[in-house]
Amino acid sequence: MYLSRTTPLVFGPCVGEDDCILGACASRGLSFATRNATLANLPPPTANTTRLLIDLGCKNFYATDVVALSGGHTIGISHCTSSTSRLYPIQDPTMDKTFANNLKGTCPTANSTNNTVVDIRSPNLFDNRYYVDLMNRQGLFTSNQDLYTDRRTRDIVTGFAVNQSLFFEKFVFAMIKMCQLSVLTGTQGEIRANCSARNTNNNNNYLGSVVDEGFEAVSQL
Ligand code: HEM
Repeated sequence: MYLSRTTPLVFGPCVGEDDCILGACASRGLSFATRNATLANLPPPTANTTRLLIDLGCKNFYATDVVALSGGHTIGISHCTSSTSRLYPIQDPTMDKTFANNLKGTCPTANSTNNTVVDIRSPNLFDNRYYVDLMNRQGLFTSNQDLYTDRRTRDIVTGFAVNQSLFFEKFVFAMIKMCQLSVLTGTQGEIRANCSARNTNNNNNYLGSVVDEGFEAVSQL
């Protein structure tokens, strides 16, 4: 089936919105997503493009959005265990051999506790070279590399690799779209001070008031 870059890519079962908000935090009146709901809404790094297009298509992201959002991997580091299934026991044949050998040096065993950069060309710079990595089969996760292997997304990867402004434009668009996804206000949710941890009572009030003021301002327009 041919899928255009502007067609919502939904043809599988979607995780319901209700699955996102489960459980309660009695002390602050907040609801937190359960582990199961979180895992159901986040594709794993082993996901191929079909899976990404289905999962994110359910949330109304198109192929261009998906490829642009994956460009977030132009910076940052990863635990080895997020990519060692591509090295051991069998090396992923789509992986560039020199890249694989270097990665094996950093991550010598399947359960190594080391870390590695995600974008080998410019790990600390927000640029379009992550897409050049993909074109050279040097993407760290299957969920990255398969965007170049899959013919539905390959041209989009190439487009961003040769045109950084285009990537920036589409990244901004997709991030704004993502920020509008299931927004929780008031006691429905919180903006985290540390992305990987729930807020403590100390920092929750300040961050909560920022988002509420923002929404009040928007609703008065
Ligand atoms: C398709 C969905 C995505 C998948 C499967 C995915 C997967 C991953 C994985 C496995 C890691 C490494 C975690 C670890 O081993 O510690 C990671 C790190 C990272 N991801 Fe993603 N990701 C996705 C979407 C995104 C998006 C949309 C952004 C931003 C726009 C993003 C930005 C980052 C950054 C910046 C890091 C590095 C974090 C750090 O340095 O601490 N990712 N991602």
